[in-house]
Amino acid sequence: MQHADQVAYIERLLKMVRTNTRDDGPGISHTSVEEYFDQGRYDREVARLFRRHPIVVGFSAQLRKPGDFVTHDETGQPILVARGTDGKLRAFLNVCRHRSASVETKPCGSGKRAFVCPYHGWSYDLTGRLVGITDSAWFGEIDKATHGLRPLAVAEKYGMVWVVPAALEDGKDAGLDIDSYLGAVVPDLESWNMQGWELHSSVPIRPRMNWKLVIDTFLELYHFRYLHGASVYPLFLDNISTYEQKDRHLRFAAAKITLAQCETQPKETWRLLDHAIVLYQLFPNTVLAYTADHCAVFTSFPVSPDEAVMNVAILVDPVERAKKPESYWTTNQRLILAALEEDFAVGATIQRNFRSGANRQQTFGKFEKALGWYHQEIERAISL
Ligand code: FES
Ligand SMILES: [Fe+2]
Repeated sequence: MQHADQVAYIERLLKMVRTNTRDDGPGISHTSVEEYFDQGRYDREVARLFRRHPIVVGFSAQLRKPGDFVTHDETGQPILVARGTDGKLRAFLNVCRHRSASVETKPCGSGKRAFVCPYHGWSYDLTGRLVGITDSAWFGEIDKATHGLRPLAVAEKYGMVWVVPAALEDGKDAGLDIDSYLGAVVPDLESWNMQGWELHSSVPIRPRMNWKLVIDTFLELYHFRYLHGASVYPLFLDNISTYEQKDRHLRFAAAKITLAQCETQPKETWRLLDHAIVLYQLFPNTVLAYTADHCAVFTSFPVSPDEAVMNVAILVDPVERAKKPESYWTTNQRLILAALEEDFAVGATIQRNFRSGANRQQTFGKFEKALGWYHQEIERAISL
């Protein structure tokens, strides 16, 4: 994040404290409760958002060396990502071209030279090429060149791996221009310099909530005082946060209790991460949360209209990691998971209550405007 942007955010946050105001919006906004449980709506979201948009499925830290691989099933598509001996990262549908078994069943691994299907032993190299058919003399004629693993569009940048989870048509390029998708958040992602960061941990959680309701819990600070009083709220000022649209994505910051220290320091020395956490909602289902020494990456995937799976990954700069004992990082992770448990306990009541008939719509206050923006963007993307 450019220093000028950091200063502008700190000034906005300080002004809110000084004048006892909140991040203002044009007015109250709404979204229909049905978008959180209607099956038709859910099916459209999966088909449009989770088949046509780049989705974060892993991290460079898991895939540094040739032969490293990860599998990923949470989008509903069986995905296999592997680094070739040429250093290139490729993604495929993890589906054997014989009779459709998953060729790789482990979540991740290293040192692979070929993926061998567990059913009848067909093998594929790291570029997805079909290289071996068992009993080929008797199997019958198969054109190996047209029976490689189906490629998926993939991009690796900023320490993250994005895949568009839909089979590419034959001959289509698997390259993905992730920067044009990320648009206005690119300069920030460049500035955080995450390419070499390590994956401290990666944990799945299964909230009984629609996948978007899971994202909603990140888009305002209003609830911290009430819901997170015993976990993360003591670190933050009450509802002092600021939100901005960045093309289809969002950028926002939540002020910590140390913010007032900036009043007595020269602006040139201001560092936003010393006094706030900076978050990005990367459309459609990822939230990045940067603090002074790590980035938490939250990805929410649809399981059914009423259930989601969220992956909570923590990326750490190896230099920062070495400065502190492992117990520091474990405690940090525990705090994040404790706050999420609080969010998802309330979230499960919300999801149940949607069907009660009490509310036809969710109401977002002026300082909850990011929720309105997010749901408008979803609406726009699924009506295309
Ligand atoms: S399904 Fe893979 S070898 Fe038969
Ligand atoms: Fe929360």
